[in-house]
Amino acid sequence: MFTKKEIIEILKDDTQNEQLFEYADIVRKNHVGDEIHLRGLIEFSNICRCTCFYCGLRCENKIIERYRINPDEIIQYAKNAADRGYKTIVLQSGEDSFFTREKICKIIKEIKKNNVALTLSIGERTLDDLKAFKDAGADRYLLRIETTDENLYKSLHPNMDFKNRISCLYNLQKLGYETGSGCLVGLPNQAMKSLADDILFFKENNFDMIGIGPFISHPDTPLKNAPNGNFILSLKVMALVRILMKDINIPATTAMETLNPQGRIIALQSGANVVMPNVTTSKYRKKYEIYPNKICINEETDKCTNCIKNKIHAIGRTISNDYGFRKR
Ligand code: SAM
Ligand code: SF4
Ligand code: FES
Repeated sequence: MFTKKEIIEILKDDTQNEQLFEYADIVRKNHVGDEIHLRGLIEFSNICRCTCFYCGLRCENKIIERYRINPDEIIQYAKNAADRGYKTIVLQSGEDSFFTREKICKIIKEIKKNNVALTLSIGERTLDDLKAFKDAGADRYLLRIETTDENLYKSLHPNMDFKNRISCLYNLQKLGYETGSGCLVGLPNQAMKSLADDILFFKENNFDMIGIGPFISHPDTPLKNAPNGNFILSLKVMALVRILMKDINIPATTAMETLNPQGRIIALQSGANVVMPNVTTSKYRKKYEIYPNKICINEETDKCTNCIKNKIHAIGRTISNDYGFRKR
């Protein structure tokens, strides 16, 4: 276990990065093995009531063209992905009130008929909603804390409540979800010590999945003039999470590949064991523009699935055939 001071030193010192990444890779191999879990991602609505300063989907962005995939079509994408061998479906969206508790429960129940694990990533919901989703069959939930620095959080999320985000995470754990969190790396005014706090927060709360991604500046947001986060620093945060949380699931994030053409493969060799290819069609991918230059927006499901499988095999790793729950 590293102290906060040690974590800060590691994050600041770039002379031993290769050793850090190699060690995280060994920990990954010893604790979760060589199998990589593919999760089929359905970004089903880019409509969002929130104000997150960094995100292109924020409600105050009037330039983005909004879309919402209807429930039958969402269910069809999930079925197609399951037919192609995906064992987990991830449903992600902005905080879109059109998708009521009842609608989400119906979608969950239909998707679960395909014998897949189901992850939700639809923002903060009430305890009753979360309970209903769990009862309907949802297995996992992703809700990044984004930053544990409360002042920074407040400055980037007007009218949102840091404490509510934390209590949502605790509710998810209490309800028995596999709970995922994570943070952005490289937000304006984000100190190294605050990244160290993020890492320790993940460890203390023993989350089952942690997604780490660099902040990427979007031109139609209040952070349009802020520099992008740093790929290597994001990778270091991710590697430290792997070293401290040996058996959890860690995705090689799309944002990493957006900053580095080999980003996901490098991440898979530095502690990650999950990839989340998009399984909808390009007409929606283009519009889910949380940040610019997102990868794979012109590709279709089969192309991405084959592409990522080939890349995984090329580094001597295999694709898992199971649901990919945390192996404790
Ligand atoms: N609305 C849900 C939520 O916020 O939890 C799920 C969708 S949201 C688009 C998924 C993640 O995108 C967020 O947790 C955030 O970390 C990430 N994200 C948003 N804007 C970003 C940006 N400019 N650069 C990198 N990641 C970003
Ligand atoms: Fe909405 Fe999520 Fe983007 Fe925030 S990060 S604006 S909650 S989609
Ligand atoms: Fe989409 Fe490579 S994963 S083209």
